[in-house]
Amino acid sequence: MSDEASKTAPVMKKLFIKTYGCQMNVYDSQRMAEAMGAEGYVLTENQAEADMVLLNTCHIREKAAEKLYSDLGRLKPLKLEKPDLKIGVAGCVAQAEGEEIQRRMPIVDLVVGPQAYHRLPAMARAGRGVDTEFPAEDKFEHLPKPAAATRRAPAAFLTVQEGCDKFCAFCVVPYTRGAEVSRPVSRILAEARDLVSRGVREITLLGQNVNGWHGEGPEGREWGFGRLIRAIAEIEGLDRIRYTTSHPNDMADDLIEAHRDEPKLMPYLHLPVQSGSNSILKAMNRRHTVDQYLRLVERIRKARPDIMLTSDFIVGFPGETDQDHRDTLALVREVNFGTAFSFKYSPRPGTPAYERPCIDDAVADARLQELQTLLTSQQRAAQESMVGRELGVLFEKPGRNPGQMVGKSDYLHAVFVEAPEARVGDLVRVRITYSAPNSLAGELAA
Ligand code: SAH
Ligand code: SF4
Ligand code: F3S
Repeated sequence: MSDEASKTAPVMKKLFIKTYGCQMNVYDSQRMAEAMGAEGYVLTENQAEADMVLLNTCHIREKAAEKLYSDLGRLKPLKLEKPDLKIGVAGCVAQAEGEEIQRRMPIVDLVVGPQAYHRLPAMARAGRGVDTEFPAEDKFEHLPKPAAATRRAPAAFLTVQEGCDKFCAFCVVPYTRGAEVSRPVSRILAEARDLVSRGVREITLLGQNVNGWHGEGPEGREWGFGRLIRAIAEIEGLDRIRYTTSHPNDMADDLIEAHRDEPKLMPYLHLPVQSGSNSILKAMNRRHTVDQYLRLVERIRKARPDIMLTSDFIVGFPGETDQDHRDTLALVREVNFGTAFSFKYSPRPGTPAYERPCIDDAVADARLQELQTLLTSQQRAAQESMVGRELGVLFEKPGRNPGQMVGKSDYLHAVFVEAPEARVGDLVRVRITYSAPNSLAGELAA
């Protein structure tokens, strides 16, 4: 290397990021990586060689939050060995606990909440700090974009809405993410076009209440989420659109119609219901009844008969009786979900339900088991019903065997296909031939 070259070569520092929680954190981690990239940091998968370790945390259940402290405990020896190592905590635990994290774990240099992470580079330069403000400025506008030529994986996330005003009695999100904010149409479209120019063919629009998104369109009229999807669908080169997570009360007609009319919108909808009991839904402050949910499902299926519905459930919410639990099982049987997540209720400090007396733990465990058995059988049946069908598959990576590719079907199942000529990013038609426990196999359709 010439002297000149060695003088100008930038010093690359290494950044290791661990992401917990929901897709919004996955998106945020990517944006933080880009922001730190502008500061000379490159990503590493090896924590031991990192100059900075960033833990992007989740506060939704006690177990999720406690993971942070066990990970920090394991980081102690590395920090002792490398005193210059910077340790940062981002995400929803950072927001909820702030300075307390540094008090409990002095090895932590930086604490940054989900609405302040555009300030992370400045904090890292300063060395130590805590920022859990909800700043007035739009953080997305203050984050650097990656260099124009940087390619992206074929499926990407795009946050369009953040925060929540619904205040379900069990949930920390309104406190950790703040009030509902919708990003403006023009910025969403610009980011979607930019992603497509980097090779992205599928975009999943994200928000804690993504279908509550609303904004002013270019013609000055108010747009709802369905209208936004139609505008994004016009982007040439983009093939698939998904969104998550939706609240049943924000499923507007316009959005249901988009499922009927817009071929790029995938036939898959995550629509959490949490419980099948009216009294529990009321105690949870979900603001809809079982009947309203079932009628909504009917309207959605009328618009898009082949749609797959998925949900979240909480069992053992304070006051839940055996009858309430049986009502939940009945709702699951009636709707028939493609897949669903179910959780045992975890009391979260600061939420309205926190002080309510918990039900017996063993009872909650048994109910969770029973619900999960039912949900798993529905999931298996839904996956097996794909055999013999022809579906779109977007290839995301090569498979283990030579000539094999792995991609996601319209319904988000992983699909293995022999396709020696194919490349990552190809969207192909595949006839499904086989259903394994966690994936499907198929062959290229003629
Ligand atoms: N905005 C989404 C949910 C975000 S949290 C919605 O309204 O549906 C993801 C899931 O975590 C929730 O759907 C719920 O099932 C679960 N969850 C949230 N708080 C919880 C708690 N305190 N205990 C157990 N599960 C919880
Ligand atoms: Fe939490 Fe309810 Fe808001 Fe979903 S709608 S993020 S469960 S408060
Ligand atoms: Fe967890 Fe925060 Fe997402 S609490 S689920 S990371 S919004």
